[in-house]
Amino acid sequence: MALRPPPSQLSAASEAAAASVQDMDNDPTLHLRPRPDFVSTDALADLVARATTYLQASYPLHLRGPAGSGKTTMALHIAQTLGRPVLLLVGDDSFDTRRLVGGETGSRTKRVVDRYIHNVMKVESETNPVWLDRALTVACIDGCTLVYDEFNRAPPAANNVLLSVLEERILVLPKAGRGESYLRVHPEFRAIFTSNPADHVGAHEAQDALLDRMVTLDVDCFDRQTEIEIAIARSGLAALDAARIVDMVRDFRKSGEYVQRPTLRATIMIARLSQQMGLRISADEPRFVQLCLDMLASRVKPGPDGLPDPRHRQMLLKLIQHFCVPVRGHGVAA
Ligand SMILES: Nc1ncnc2c1ncn2[C@@H]1O[C@H](COP(=O)(O)OP(=O)(O)OP(=O)(O)O)[C@@H](O)[C@H]1O
Ligand SMILES: [Mg+2]
Repeated sequence: MALRPPPSQLSAASEAAAASVQDMDNDPTLHLRPRPDFVSTDALADLVARATTYLQASYPLHLRGPAGSGKTTMALHIAQTLGRPVLLLVGDDSFDTRRLVGGETGSRTKRVVDRYIHNVMKVESETNPVWLDRALTVACIDGCTLVYDEFNRAPPAANNVLLSVLEERILVLPKAGRGESYLRVHPEFRAIFTSNPADHVGAHEAQDALLDRMVTLDVDCFDRQTEIEIAIARSGLAALDAARIVDMVRDFRKSGEYVQRPTLRATIMIARLSQQMGLRISADEPRFVQLCLDMLASRVKPGPDGLPDPRHRQMLLKLIQHFCVPVRGHGVAA
């Protein structure tokens, strides 16, 4: 007997997905809708068009890029354009084949008490294992788009089951599992993977055999104009204000003086909080300066003793003063 798990056990919806998920009771898949604040530029539209072509030809897609380069957002956006139900899986070191495919979760006993003749009682009991389908099995059977975010955070051995799914389009099931030893993959099944090649903490090297089956597209950090458009879309700030924050964070990124890369996410945080707190995007607004320091100072390289270096804090203050020059009558957040 095979069961379907509740949605919460099957997929983990990220912020990006949650914004666009339609709530479907008892349906383990995500039904994505276009995000109203999704920004598309010519470069992003071109990437989506190429990715969709490869996926439509049944090739799995792999978006590879540094933190904050928009991989998850793009993967979900592409999945949504395919128009099929989506299953989102986020790679984790605790994964094994069972976590992807499913497994036996216990047994179900059926007991029949027959009292057809009043002084004769016949009791029959039968115990059968209960099998619980997991994301990969559900996606392969129902022809979903599987978005496997950060797939290389799962141990390579757990991902081995994908080799035959992607090449032979056969899902090999554990012995005596679901009642059959393999399943033919639904013709509409598609897979989109993401990974961060720079973050080695908690990540594994993806096996060549798996990478060889995918089309890998490198997504780099966004260009300035795209970052500004995303900052505006995500915060509601005016274009000039958004540009000031984007330029400040980009310059910090360019300096290389960080231990944790200042990503677009930091830009969005500063922009959204400034808007919510009604701050002027200006170096003479103490609360804005403090906000920037709170968002960025922890990323700056520490001094030789491992403690925050006051000179680096000064560098951040100079950046704020340089890019957020006070302008009379300008920059009052709505
Ligand atoms: N095209 C876009 N339109 C609007 N917002 C976007 C777009 N692309 C990315 N973002 C926003 O930028 C931020 C970073 O994007 P995302 O989470 O997709 O990056 P990532 O590459 O998956 O990062 P990580 O490796 O840390 O998971 C998010 O807040 C996301 O909402
Ligand atoms: Mg991501």
